[in-house]
Amino acid sequence: RWRSSLPQLDSTVDRSDEDSGGDIDWDNLGFGLTPTDYMYVMRCSLEDGVFSRGQLSRYGNIELSPSSGVINYGQGLFEGLKAYRKSDRQGYMLFRPEENARRMQHGAERMCMPSPSVEQFVHAVKQTVLANRRWVPPQGKGALYIRPLLIGSGPILGLAPAPEYTFLIYAAPVGTYFKEGLAPINLVVEDAIHRAMPGGTGGVKTITNYAPVLKAQMDAKSKGFTDVLYLDAVHKRYLEEASSCNLFIVKDGVVATPATVGTILPGITRKSVIELARDRGYQQVEERLVSIDDLISGDEVFCTGTAVVIAPVSTVSYQGQRYEFRTGQDTLSQTLHTTLTSIQMGLAEDKKGWTVAI
Ligand code: COI
Repeated sequence: RWRSSLPQLDSTVDRSDEDSGGDIDWDNLGFGLTPTDYMYVMRCSLEDGVFSRGQLSRYGNIELSPSSGVINYGQGLFEGLKAYRKSDRQGYMLFRPEENARRMQHGAERMCMPSPSVEQFVHAVKQTVLANRRWVPPQGKGALYIRPLLIGSGPILGLAPAPEYTFLIYAAPVGTYFKEGLAPINLVVEDAIHRAMPGGTGGVKTITNYAPVLKAQMDAKSKGFTDVLYLDAVHKRYLEEASSCNLFIVKDGVVATPATVGTILPGITRKSVIELARDRGYQQVEERLVSIDDLISGDEVFCTGTAVVIAPVSTVSYQGQRYEFRTGQDTLSQTLHTTLTSIQMGLAEDKKGWTVAI
């Protein structure tokens, strides 16, 4: 029945393998890159400013000029969203894909790039999922992670916006992001390396926000921590986010998360969690400055993100001291995890209209 509402698939797509799943160990997916069959590509010149003629092609390497804007000057954005498989042959579910489209548009403005319309973005996501449907994990085993990119692909030598742009989407089946799986994680507060600064690009999903934190991340991992929490670059006192996710603390029944003041990525999971917590009676979900002292005295700490979903934090280390937090049964993070993933997987009624069925 659901097939009748499918968007038209590109004629090059081989439908023979539809739900067969490939040769993959669905129980040990993690967040590794499993190449899939198709990617979606759409181009646009700076002069035109309008993307058109997007199409699916076989997943594979792309050709780029050595002088392309993205390689030389980092003119690029990425997005991340997931498709879940509904129960038997009921199709697939996307979670708030228009939010990703709008965030990309906002970031494109900051990075002087044209961007696809919301409709183009969502259509392209649907096409990518359908073309790679055999890679959507069985229910409960994970999701198809969808990675839209917007890059300055045209050649440029002097510093200026590239003359041509490529919007590309690829996808890969994923399980849990951290090696801990669903178990609580251990974070370390970094006080020398900063992720973002006022006036910078911390609040948009530019590719240039990510490689600069690798050093802190590698260092933390070598010491046994899962990930790093970054402090604001001005006062070195207020928490911003982790390398790949937003941060929440709970204290005396009040939930707080750093306000998105330009240095913090406005996460779609973050935004959804704020709403779900308010629905659960946590009227006071505060978006504000969250200091290191607030964190240390918190009862519960958790991280949110598309890749991460909701990850409970069991310890945070700061200046050599280790602070412990509540995890497990009856924590807010566990309750919210169940609520959120049930909606995302189509197991609970979506009263908010967040999901998009394919
Ligand atoms: C996501 O959660 O989708 C992200 O984009 C973070 C990335 C570092 C995996």
